[in-house]
Order: sequence, then structure tokens, then C-alpha cells
Amino acid sequence: MDLDLKNKVAIITASSSGLGRGAAQSLLREGARVVINGRNKTKLQAALNELKQLSAGEIIAVPGDLTKKEDLKNLVQETINRFGQLDYLVTSAGGPPAGQFIDLTESDWYQAFDLLVMSVVRLVKYALPYLKESDQAAIVNITSTSVKEALPNLLLSNSVRMGVIGLMKTLANELAPQIRVNAVLPGSHETARIKELLNNEVENGQFKDYQAALVEKSRSIPLQRLGQPTEIGDLITFLLSPRAAYLTGETIVIDGGSTSSNL
Ligand SMILES: NC(=O)c1ccc[n+]([C@@H]2O[C@H](COP(=O)([O-])OP(=O)(O)OC[C@H]3O[C@@H](n4cnc5c(N)ncnc54)[C@H](OP(=O)(O)O)[C@@H]3O)[C@@H](O)[C@H]2O)c1
Repeated sequence: MDLDLKNKVAIITASSSGLGRGAAQSLLREGARVVINGRNKTKLQAALNELKQLSAGEIIAVPGDLTKKEDLKNLVQETINRFGQLDYLVTSAGGPPAGQFIDLTESDWYQAFDLLVMSVVRLVKYALPYLKESDQAAIVNITSTSVKEALPNLLLSNSVRMGVIGLMKTLANELAPQIRVNAVLPGSHETARIKELLNNEVENGQFKDYQAALVEKSRSIPLQRLGQPTEIGDLITFLLSPRAAYLTGETIVIDGGSTSSNL
């Protein structure tokens, strides 16, 4: 299936690693032009070099912190300076800290809101004039299965990500019919973040090695494995493409079958 994405321009936030990087790889493969982002310039440059080796597609890297307004403005401006257009936004972010109610401070709540919700609000605001000029604009927000099922020890993810879903659903109405807006809800995917968590469990003596930790983590997943970042990347790429032209305001779970909610 031709996804008709050639030469379209996508900004993908938090994409020097993990799910965002997976989205960049999939979009490049379809001939889209891609802007990746992250705070650490060395890591971002390494991702840029790796992605250039994997694909002939055009890609640039714009460093910046999603919690800083000026960095988000600059991300949009650099995209326009280089490519002269903007068709797609894919929003990912770092993860908010884990913890239970008793552990979290008021400042943790505000920081999580800034990182997960306000980063999307601001990016959409700065990108909107350019998205409105595109003939097939679309936005995909990467969130988590925690918006379907509250996950243990992840109070901030369970609570604050709901704000992104409310925003997505409302924007899908307000920006229609020109701009489609959807969210993807990943379960466990084998990214740097998950690898670090599993390696910590190995160091704590919970597992003899990484492979044993991975097998245990996969046991409760019906498909018996974690997802790979390019698998969510492929879903995002489809959602952005005109092949998904009648899909907006949707939340789509990608978790190997682990979420037990009926809907
Ligand atoms: N992996 C999973 O299984 C999974 C499942 C459900 C939900 N999620 C959520 O999906 C998101 C991405 O997770 P991931 O697994 O892809 O993580 P990851 O592999 O650790 O990658 C996170 C990316 O975000 C960037 N980043 C973090 N904070 C940033 C900031 N303030 N401004 C700009 N870039 C920032 C990081 O680069 P720098 O550190 O250099 O900035 C990196 O490129 C997180 O919110 C996570 O909670 C992940």
C-alpha cells in the first residue's frame, strides 16, 4: 500500500530515542521529511547519523527541551526554515517519575503537567498556522495504556496523560475537517527507558540477566513479547497518512493484547 507520504514534513518530539525514534524511522522509510528532537545534543546527533544510514530520506535534528516555550517555537521555526512547510506533528515526551500518592510533591505534579500536556498545547499552537496550509495535516499524540487502565505505581502517568486525551478529542472536533488528531496508547515497548528499568531489576538481583527479565516482563502479554519502537512507528505512520483519512479523535491501543478493558 502506498501511504502517500512522500515529501510531507513531520516534527516528532522526543525522538532521539525510543518510541519517537521508531516513528521517525517508519516515516523516513515512506519518503517523508523528518525533524527529530531531544535535549541531549550528543544523543540527538547519534540518532541523526543512525537514521541517515538507515534511510535516504531527508532528516534534520533540532535540539530543545519540551518544557521550554522558546525551544518549541524554535523547533517549528527551524522546520519551516529548512523545509518551508509542516504537515504532521507526532508528540512524544519523557516519562513522568514513577511513585505513589504519598511520594509525590506538588512540584512533581506541575512538572508532569508541563512536560506531558503543556508541551503539546504549545507545540500545536505554534504549528497551527503552518498545519492549516497543508492539504493533509494530521497530529498523533503518543500517550500510554495508562489512560485506559490505571497502572500500579504510576500515579502521574495515570492522571496527567488524561489531559492529553481530552485535548486530542477536543482538537479533533475543533480542527476538523482540515486537521485530523488521534492518540496511540502503547503498552511495553523495548526502548532505552524500558531497557534501563529491566537492567535495574537485574542489578537489584531480581533477575539473573536481561534476557530473564525480558521473559518475565513478556509473560503477561498475550503476544508473549514486548513491542519494538518501529511497530508503533508503523501505526503512527498509517494514522498520519491519507489511508487513515476517515479516522480522527481516536485512541488506539498497541500493547500485544495486554490491556484487559473491553473497549
Ligand atoms: N517504552 C514504553 O514501553 C512506553 C509505554 C507507554 C508509554 N511510554 C511513554 O512514551 C514516552 C517515550 O518513552 P520511550 O520509551 O520512548 O523513552 P526513551 O527511550 O527514554 O526516549 C525518551 C526520549 O525523550 C527525550 N526527552 C525526554 N525528556 C525530554 C524533554 N523535556 N524535552 C525534549 N526531549 C525529551 C529523550 O531525549 P533527551 O533525554 O536527550 O531529552 C529521548 O529522546 C514516555 O512518556 C513514556 O512514559 C513508553
